[in-house]
Amino acid sequence: MVLKLAIFISGRGSNMLSILKACENPDYPAEVKLVFSNRPDAAGLKVAQEKSIAVEVIDHKAYDSREAFEEQVSKCLKNYDVDLIVLAGFMRVLSDSFVKQWPERIINIHPSLLPEYKGLHPHERAIKDGKTESGCSVHYVTPELDSGPVIRQKRVPILPGDTAETLADRILAQEHILYPEAIKIIADSIDK
Ligand code: GRF
Repeated sequence: MVLKLAIFISGRGSNMLSILKACENPDYPAEVKLVFSNRPDAAGLKVAQEKSIAVEVIDHKAYDSREAFEEQVSKCLKNYDVDLIVLAGFMRVLSDSFVKQWPERIINIHPSLLPEYKGLHPHERAIKDGKTESGCSVHYVTPELDSGPVIRQKRVPILPGDTAETLADRILAQEHILYPEAIKIIADSIDK
């Protein structure tokens, strides 16, 4: 099966780009129907447009509540035939009610070996704790933040002298491999 994706971004979109590149391979079992952002200034939007991918922006700041914002997002998604929502640096927490409308159909990438270091500043916290290893995880999104079932992880060593920035760069390189792999696992599992 070819999984139809909506990628949600808020920033530079380097994970989005790694998925777009994977989808350029005709054997890869996914296609990107839409790149969505809650931020009109997200740098990744330009990258998606350059690749002729449909782009939609709904600025969350224009809405009084999370629910009102998400209602617009749901309306927008109805215009696209989407199987799976792929959060890639999307910096808005989605409400329980939105998540429940997409059971096992929203995934996220997080730069830690979940369940360790959920939430913000995972690199900094892992270094502070004196860990020698971190990594990245792709997981299903459930109402509780960064807590849904893990689909796939990659381990990355923490080296002496690492700062949050050097570690983030090294993990990001693995994220770009991990996310396309995880999406393929989902597509293949649906085929069985
Ligand atoms: C990545 O480190 C991802 O794990 C985290 O946010 C960052 C997004 O980077 N959720 P990019 O926008 O994909 O470059």
